[in-house]
Amino acid sequence: MSAIRRWILPEPGGVERLALDHAPRPPLGPRQVRVAVRACSLNYRDLSVARGLYGRGGVRANLVPLSDGAGEVVEVGAEVSRVRPGARVAGIFMQRWIAGGITSEAGASALGGALDGMLAEEVVLDEDGLVTIPDHLSYAEAACLPCAAVTAWHALVEHASLKPGETVLVQGSGGVSIFALQFARMIGARVIATSSSDVKLGRLRAMGAETGINYRTHVEWQEAVLAATGGRGVDTVVEVGGAGTLARSIHAVRLGGSISLIGVLTGSAMLDPTPLMRRSIRLGGIYVGSRAMFEAMNAAIAANEMRPLIDATFPFARAPDAYHHLMAAQHMGKVVITMP
Ligand SMILES: NC(=O)c1ccc[n+]([C@@H]2O[C@H](COP(=O)([O-])OP(=O)(O)OC[C@H]3O[C@@H](n4cnc5c(N)ncnc54)[C@H](OP(=O)(O)O)[C@@H]3O)[C@@H](O)[C@H]2O)c1
Repeated sequence: MSAIRRWILPEPGGVERLALDHAPRPPLGPRQVRVAVRACSLNYRDLSVARGLYGRGGVRANLVPLSDGAGEVVEVGAEVSRVRPGARVAGIFMQRWIAGGITSEAGASALGGALDGMLAEEVVLDEDGLVTIPDHLSYAEAACLPCAAVTAWHALVEHASLKPGETVLVQGSGGVSIFALQFARMIGARVIATSSSDVKLGRLRAMGAETGINYRTHVEWQEAVLAATGGRGVDTVVEVGGAGTLARSIHAVRLGGSISLIGVLTGSAMLDPTPLMRRSIRLGGIYVGSRAMFEAMNAAIAANEMRPLIDATFPFARAPDAYHHLMAAQHMGKVVITMP
């Protein structure tokens, strides 16, 4: 293959701008790895990127989008020691966040944001910027992990130190929330889930949620969360709603509990921070996670033979349709694009 096909955003302004492009095969440095991408997945963030609403500096021209992809190593540079050709790998969201706390250098190395992403037939990544994927997962399943799953893992395991028997509130049925539900059940915690749809709530219960609350018909859903916990509140909230839901989440969490602030799905709001102090709530901002978190999560996924929930799969040539499917917000779990 002398040229590769990839999708680019010539300029931000919406999904309609996505264009299929042919580019020369990129050269390989001594510590780099060439990956034949087999599948990618979409995150809500990719809609924001396409609209040009992501990151402080805006979205640069001709960006290859998508942070999440998995594939097969087809060539390695002369000094590469972490993987060999044939290895099954996924890119890590922030290419330079290996372990420990986040740094500004790590924060400026996100795939499909600061750096070109995975929506291409082939990508070249530094050997440090990937993980091997669990054997039992298909490439499509593994492509769901880098952003949504690592974020949910970071929230529950690192920030909330979730224990068996504790109670987690997950909001909605998107990528992050479904992973949070699955990890919470894996750990032996109880789950209360909210959704805009009774049909989805039925499916969330079938996946192990003990209580389901429709946040459209129960606008004061935080009261239903308190009722479901005997008035105590949940131990931790995986907060994907953002400004529009945070005040209710603060109401729904127990004294001394925690909230992982992850999402920006709902509008803006003035927030009274006093209850956070009075009720000793630990509010932590979560930005995906490190390679070390990804590797720990993969070990847990492999040991439990857990599988991501894929809602729909689109072929590479129809990538814009995958974006539209995510935008319609009728999905549960992840939306995937597979390569020919
Ligand atoms: N900080 C980070 O590192 C990080 C990482 C990943 C994602 N995020 C953010 O987390 C959010 C979710 O991302 P995603 O990729 O999982 O999105 P997604 O798959 O598009 O999920 C969206 C779902 O959220 C639910 N939702 C929307 N408004 C809601 C509300 N007011 N209350 C409760 N649920 C609501 C809906 O579920 P129902 O249809 O069931 O109602 C909707 O389908 C986004 O804001 C994204 O930017 C942040």
